[in-house]
Amino acid sequence: MLQLPASTYVDRRRRLLEQLPPGGAMLLPTHGEVTRSNTTAFPFRPHSDFYYVSGFPEPDAWLLLKRDGEEPGMHLFVLPRDRERETWTGRRYGVDGAKECFGADHAWPLPELDEQLARLLADVDVLYFSFGRHTRKEARLHRILSKVRTGRKAELGPTTLCDPESLLAEMRLIKTPEELAVMRTGAEISAEAHIAAMRAVRHGMHEYEIQALVEYTFRRRGAWGWAYPSIVAGGDNACILHYVRNDGVFRDGELMLIDAGAEVDGYATDITRTTPVGAAFSGAQRDAYEVVLGVQRRAIEAVRPGASINGIHEQVLLDLTRGMVDLGVLHGDPEELVADKKHEAFYPHRTSHWLGCDVHDVGRYNLRTGPHKPLEAGQVLTVEPGLYFPADDERTPEAFKGIGIRIEDDVLVTGDGHEVLTAAVPKAVEELEALRREALG
Ligand code: GLY
Ligand code: MN
Ligand code: MN
Repeated sequence: MLQLPASTYVDRRRRLLEQLPPGGAMLLPTHGEVTRSNTTAFPFRPHSDFYYVSGFPEPDAWLLLKRDGEEPGMHLFVLPRDRERETWTGRRYGVDGAKECFGADHAWPLPELDEQLARLLADVDVLYFSFGRHTRKEARLHRILSKVRTGRKAELGPTTLCDPESLLAEMRLIKTPEELAVMRTGAEISAEAHIAAMRAVRHGMHEYEIQALVEYTFRRRGAWGWAYPSIVAGGDNACILHYVRNDGVFRDGELMLIDAGAEVDGYATDITRTTPVGAAFSGAQRDAYEVVLGVQRRAIEAVRPGASINGIHEQVLLDLTRGMVDLGVLHGDPEELVADKKHEAFYPHRTSHWLGCDVHDVGRYNLRTGPHKPLEAGQVLTVEPGLYFPADDERTPEAFKGIGIRIEDDVLVTGDGHEVLTAAVPKAVEELEALRREALG
């Protein structure tokens, strides 16, 4: 499976070190395993910031990046080699592996964390640490800092604490060609999974059977797995935005909404498609689908440097509301309807989010604090308008009850426009109906 080369991580650390002020250091922990029930744990996946800077895949580790002073460079604190534990839970890189395989300038066994950090932080002036995210680790850092500050040395540790997001999130937001190669692989694998699911669905099948096919494809192609829990929803279930029970039964005449994406070397894909369970859309389904598709296509056209996520969302709200007026779902002047938030009954979510190491990736949107952040080449965002007509909502017109539609693509901002990374998954009505007819034989 495609993986970023070690040189990518070296380059990231060099760029971060260049941005740290004199006396600056960044401390990034990753979490430990989380108990699922009794003796079983959730599958471990490193924290994105930690993995982005180190490429180190094990739990419970800490990374200290020091710009200057004593022992500058990258320190990794890792679980030590332990033959007995490794027999149960798998091989560890240990201190030697942290240096040899991940380029750590200094590596320490985890049990030495408090003592070594107290020493290493003594001559740090500005410490970057993400507060409010790792509660127990934060408390541990407080204890360590208190040890530094009550010490007898002349240097009493950091005078300034900063959020690493100001440096790290902005770096994560702009993708390099190497990262884009990984994201393209994720898009290709996810496209294969979506197309397989679109072909496989049949009346009477359970949603989880299609979920299994999607996730089987992710793993068969070497992805880590899903980037977020897969949504596989038939009919009215598609109106639940984060539906993950996936235990309903598909019926002819309904639509199937799948929102699923693979994670490849820590990068997320995020695709939604809505397909007929039978051979074709019904009249009302097609009318609503064409509205969403037209809105999505026009929103994608608007993606270019200088545009903004918020501007595109505002365009979508007006465009979608015009569509709802044409469908006879809303009545009145579209601009007034949007101002009165009447669209929210059928389109309650936003249109876009950043995409990268996390599905809802880091990076500011400047939604409330103007001016809206302009898009820049190298950013990847989703474009995902939808219409949802829950059967049990009295505001839903009879003809549309039980129809939920979302169409979501991942879009790269290029120097002069955009590129749709997930274009290989069909979305035109004719393409979807041809695919379904062929699959049904
Ligand atoms: N799959 C989550 C989202 O589309 O935002
Ligand atoms: Mn999304
Ligand atoms: Mn999605």
